[in-house]
Amino acid sequence: MITDKLLQLLPEKVRARVEPYAEAAELMSEVRDPKVAAALGPSGVRGLILQRGKQGVPTKIKASHDAHFDWSYPMDQPEMRELYTRAKQNQWDGDTWLDWSTNVDPESPEVRIIPDDFLNFEKLEGYIGARFTPREKARIRSDVAAWQLSQFLHGEQGALFAAAQVTEAVQFFDGKLYGATQVVDEARHVEVFHRYLDTKLNKLYQINDNLFVIIDALMSDSRWDMKFLGMQIMVEGLALGAFGTLYKITNEPLLKELLKNVIRDESRHVHYGVLALREHFHKHISERERREREDWSFEVALLMRNRFLAYEIYEERFEGLLTRAQWRDVVSTSPGLEEFRHVMFSRLVPNLREIGLLSDRIKPHYDRVGLSKYFGGRSADQITTEEMIGELDREASAIPSLALAHA
Ligand SMILES: [Fe+2]
Ligand SMILES: [Fe+2]
Repeated sequence: MITDKLLQLLPEKVRARVEPYAEAAELMSEVRDPKVAAALGPSGVRGLILQRGKQGVPTKIKASHDAHFDWSYPMDQPEMRELYTRAKQNQWDGDTWLDWSTNVDPESPEVRIIPDDFLNFEKLEGYIGARFTPREKARIRSDVAAWQLSQFLHGEQGALFAAAQVTEAVQFFDGKLYGATQVVDEARHVEVFHRYLDTKLNKLYQINDNLFVIIDALMSDSRWDMKFLGMQIMVEGLALGAFGTLYKITNEPLLKELLKNVIRDESRHVHYGVLALREHFHKHISERERREREDWSFEVALLMRNRFLAYEIYEERFEGLLTRAQWRDVVSTSPGLEEFRHVMFSRLVPNLREIGLLSDRIKPHYDRVGLSKYFGGRSADQITTEEMIGELDREASAIPSLALAHA
């Protein structure tokens, strides 16, 4: 990449200041569709250039959607009503369902939150020109776990507010009742992730700038179906991928149990997204609007795939020891991240197909970036939560490279 070569010529201190801006410009130039760029651009400036998520509290984001009232209370969507009933029956209490007396040592060599090969240590050592002691590796692993869980927590705060907004804005009355249960679910997720970070890992990282961009874009978009597509399909898909990966590879029992319960809730959320958008996209929007949404989701999927690179850890620990481009290389070739991408896209792509955003027009683009193997997968409404958990358990025992996690 030309930018990388130019950056190498700068003195180190200047380079460290310029690199994030160069990356922001590169990010926006990667988005090919002008409508998508226009929709994401302002959020990109707020997140990547102004770093609004890192400027202290509070962060205020203006919302501008319409609240959709219906005084006739129609029972209009039986499948959503059924999800609402299931959600009421499956509520759980983080205080009593999880064993908070579990002793968690994030640097323990025996009970590992994430396995050693989650990060590409070999490459990292090669760039730095030194080898880590087992203790140093344990500390870095612990930081990576805290970073990952911190991003989950920030994402859950976004999900909590987005679920509340969507509940107001959605046109289906049964969807509103269901949405209220999702608000409670997301509050519980904020509660348990925060408690785990606060009392077990004793560390909280700031929100990643790229995650902030997505949350900012969803909060401020006034079109309810875009909010919905972004939150219920893309971000929830991302969350399921990340939670599923961590669930598979961790052997810390409290976190495993926590994630299992959260995954059960999240699979309902994505299911709801598929039901609502399938109905809406098939019956209520024009072909031009459908195409715009199809392009938007492809671009956002790529952004999500390429951009969660744990720069917050780099800035804290490794700045000056290797360049950002080298760090990017370390993170993007890490087995943990590869696994995360696999789980995320195996959930996301079939859901996009199901809601009508995987037409023959866009398929070659997915094919070009290696995602066509997911075209035929099962969507959220075709797989039960227990089947999903069972699948994750089976996959977990079949990953030889992550054998340490199950030792
Ligand atoms: Fe959640
Ligand atoms: Fe959710």
